[in-house]
Amino acid sequence: MKYSAFVTRIIPDEGINLLKKNKNIELDLYEHDQVIPRKELLKRVKGKHIILSILTDKIDKEVFDAAGPQLKMIANYAVGFDNIDLVEAKKRGITVTNTPSEMISESVAEHTIALMFALAKRIVETDKFTRAGKYKAWGPQLLLGTDLFKKTIGIIGTGRIGTGVVHRLHDGFGMKVVYNDVKKNPQLEQETGAKFRSLTQLLKESDFVSIHVPLLPSTKHLISTKEFALMKPTAFIINTARGPIIDEKALCKALLKKQIAGAGLDVYECEPLIDCDPNDNLELRKMDNVVLTPHTASATLTTRQEMSKIAAKNILAFVGGKRPPNRIE
Ligand code: GLV
Ligand code: GLV
Repeated sequence: MKYSAFVTRIIPDEGINLLKKNKNIELDLYEHDQVIPRKELLKRVKGKHIILSILTDKIDKEVFDAAGPQLKMIANYAVGFDNIDLVEAKKRGITVTNTPSEMISESVAEHTIALMFALAKRIVETDKFTRAGKYKAWGPQLLLGTDLFKKTIGIIGTGRIGTGVVHRLHDGFGMKVVYNDVKKNPQLEQETGAKFRSLTQLLKESDFVSIHVPLLPSTKHLISTKEFALMKPTAFIINTARGPIIDEKALCKALLKKQIAGAGLDVYECEPLIDCDPNDNLELRKMDNVVLTPHTASATLTTRQEMSKIAAKNILAFVGGKRPPNRIE
């Protein structure tokens, strides 16, 4: 059987080259390096068996209907898959895959730690200060930061990425680790001395809190007003998972009230908006104790090529009648 596949965005080429070698796959590639407009997406998926989507494409009933009943697979170019209506996909017998791997987890773990350092050492703020010509003399109290050594990191979610962060911070920087997850992680406890805590206790104890859970109905606004009130005024929060896990308005308020010391964000509740309100989206951007990156935690060429290969391998397995390695149940 011949399969037609639509790729919704230009992605690094290694996976695309693998797909091109398969004679049973007819590829239709969106030709622009931009988020495909919704109308165009709905048009281009028509008659396709497979869609290789990216995390900014909302893949829902409307897309499934526009494609038609022959649609059999969504290969998402991302670890997260909250952009896909899994319930509807299941109803229609559509296979969904994602792209988790050690490499992507490493990249995200490193980026998480980069944000921690940027906050603790005030890298962005002091770079601005220096460039602005404000460095007039060394000072014993000039722009004091924080150390990571012997501080407590609280990890929410100990999947591959959370575990990577824990190992590096424990092994490399001597940090104490507390964690919260849907279940206990005995291996992590044994390897790093990590201690399981309720979310409440974790928030009370941690000097840094880092989020590594998927976005689910149960994790939306997991961290909101009540949770920020539990944190230490010297604590930082880092989010490289999905924006809506933090209630961004509550975060802004907690920062303004100095309930917490700062935040490092790679993802946003109404991405790509920073703050959900389009008329006043400057609050976070005005704060010196906030470091913001544009959802680039996995943005290294190696990782993005790896994701391309993994998405392709899932498609090739499917087309070959095998179970795709990263099928989401
Ligand atoms: C990035 O956010 C991903 O889910 O891969
Ligand atoms: C998957 O890679 C995860 O972070 O759990």
